[in-house]
Amino acid sequence: MDTGTITKPHEQLAETLAAEMADVNALIAERMASEHAPRIPQVTAHLVGAGGKRLRPMLTLAAARLCGYEGGHHVRLAATVEFIHTATLLHDDVVDESGQRRGRPTANLLWDNKSSILVGDYLFSRSFQLMVETGSLRVLDILANASATIAEGEVLQLSAASDLGTDEKIYLQIIRGKTAALFSAATQVGAVIAQAPEDQVAALFAYGDALGIAFQIADDLLDYQGSASATGKNVGDDFRERKMTLPVIKAIAVATADERAFWERTIGKGRQEDGDLEHALMLMGKYGTLDATRRDAVAWAETAKSSLVGLPDHPIRAILHDLADYVVARLN
Ligand code: IPE
Ligand code: IPE
Ligand code: MG
Ligand code: MG
Repeated sequence: MDTGTITKPHEQLAETLAAEMADVNALIAERMASEHAPRIPQVTAHLVGAGGKRLRPMLTLAAARLCGYEGGHHVRLAATVEFIHTATLLHDDVVDESGQRRGRPTANLLWDNKSSILVGDYLFSRSFQLMVETGSLRVLDILANASATIAEGEVLQLSAASDLGTDEKIYLQIIRGKTAALFSAATQVGAVIAQAPEDQVAALFAYGDALGIAFQIADDLLDYQGSASATGKNVGDDFRERKMTLPVIKAIAVATADERAFWERTIGKGRQEDGDLEHALMLMGKYGTLDATRRDAVAWAETAKSSLVGLPDHPIRAILHDLADYVVARLN
């Protein structure tokens, strides 16, 4: 047995960046508290204490290191990125009416929607304070833009949900906004703080963008194919929320008249009955739309990998390469 061997790329990344990630986690713990409103540390400790993969802050540290950065601001930026992520999760679980996150009941379930929204706002504000401390206007510009783009993606998704006319182009726009924008900002600010040449900044942006898209496509597949024990989230949430994710979009595109009526009733009108999720899965199986979705995720992971070509030859570049495979391999 080689249980001591680290195999997963995100664990390799965590191992390589262990010292800096410890600083990031200490900074997160320090800044997520509030002396004045005890509800804040209660909610943040619940969510942050449950862990999470810390993928985005590791991407920032990795990009900075890959570009030869030797200062200390990348730790602040990594914490900023994780704060933005955590804030969006608090808001997202309210919007999606989700009951489980990181293997724990969601904050909206344990406390209430109001607490989740307000503590999410608090974390957003804390993230701005942190990024200001770097003194880099360009970094502020990138992360402020990413925050706006995430919100735009979530709102776009809101209007696309239950609309059977939502196509793959709109879907891409949604996930590029709500998810990839933070991945690409995470990698880009790492390069920017390192004052890397513009071609390296652009390459790391492109990597984060494609990785984030692959990641969200995989996440949407896991919403149908995964298990709550593996993802820490409930399966079938997207169907219940009538989300037009890729497996559904692909199934609707080839539906017969009867099948279209099924999608109209369940996704369009939201009149769902027992057995509907199973029927949806059967239709996806019939047309192979889950496999087709998986292939799209793999293609985006390939795009991510090819973005790395011009970057310095460095052990971190190899880990980022493998990480792109991993975000879709978690589907197996
Ligand atoms: C969840 O992201 C939100 C999505 C974009 C799908 P992660 O899966 O990275 O969440 P944690 O931080 O590891 O819990
Ligand atoms: C999460 O999107 C994206 C953001 C946090 C902005 P989802 O709603 O698809 O992710 P999960 O499945 O709840 O993590
Ligand atoms: Mg959600
Ligand atoms: Mg959502």
